[in-house]
Amino acid sequence: MTPSLNNSQSREIYSNQQGIHDNLEKVVRKHLTFEFKKPPAKHTVSAFNRVSDLISAKQMPIIFDSCCGTGFSSRIIARQHPHHWVIGLDRSAKRLNKEDQEPLPDNCLIAQVDCVDFWNLAVKADWQLEKHFLLYPNPYPKSAQLKSRWHGHPAFVNLLKLGGDLEVRSNWQIYIQEFAEALRIAGQSCSGCEVYNPNEGDQKLEAVKPAEEYLTLFERKYHQSGQTLFRCLSSLRF
Ligand SMILES: C[S@@+](CC[C@H](N)C(=O)[O-])C[C@H]1O[C@@H](n2cnc3c(N)ncnc32)[C@H](O)[C@@H]1O
Repeated sequence: MTPSLNNSQSREIYSNQQGIHDNLEKVVRKHLTFEFKKPPAKHTVSAFNRVSDLISAKQMPIIFDSCCGTGFSSRIIARQHPHHWVIGLDRSAKRLNKEDQEPLPDNCLIAQVDCVDFWNLAVKADWQLEKHFLLYPNPYPKSAQLKSRWHGHPAFVNLLKLGGDLEVRSNWQIYIQEFAEALRIAGQSCSGCEVYNPNEGDQKLEAVKPAEEYLTLFERKYHQSGQTLFRCLSSLRF
């Protein structure tokens, strides 16, 4: 079953930014220096405890699919990695509870959480990821919204600390250019901003998939609207 999200054409992102934000380096360096102190929301603590209990029943490497939306991608990734736990995280109950979805594979868990808090709890519990997908995060394209983008957010440091092979995809080139630059500022190596074509085999992260299969519903919508997609890959070492 391939659920429909919204087959309408999607317009390219408009921003008042022409390139990498002037304040990116300052913002990232500040976050690298300060300890993250925000107390986690109760519902995310409960969800984290539930996920911890479930995964402790069977020791397997962990993959995060952060901002997973409906969890469409989490299901695909879980089927591609039957010997990993795949944990799909999203704050939207409406998206996660969408009706026409495949059943969850046994190795896939979905949690309605704020990633900011979940990542923090996972770092405090010393979790180390094998892979981390961040697929089409909200772009927050206005220049004034830099600190809402993941690479401009204080939680970026926890994202780095979680480690693993990170893959970030976006239909906004500047988002990926900034993300790659933020990784560089933090001393991480990465692929830079590369064009991602969903119809080509994906050898870099061994994610073998049929040529026409999209990893997410937003990816399908953007690609079918003729938009160019971008991505950045990094093996995080903190
Ligand atoms: C553009 S959608 C992409 C969803 C999915 N990855 C896809 O490609 O279809 C961005 C998602 O990020 C989620 N999100 C944004 N900020 C979040 C946060 N702090 N914690 C958890 N989810 C968040 C939103 O609820 C939304 O589902």
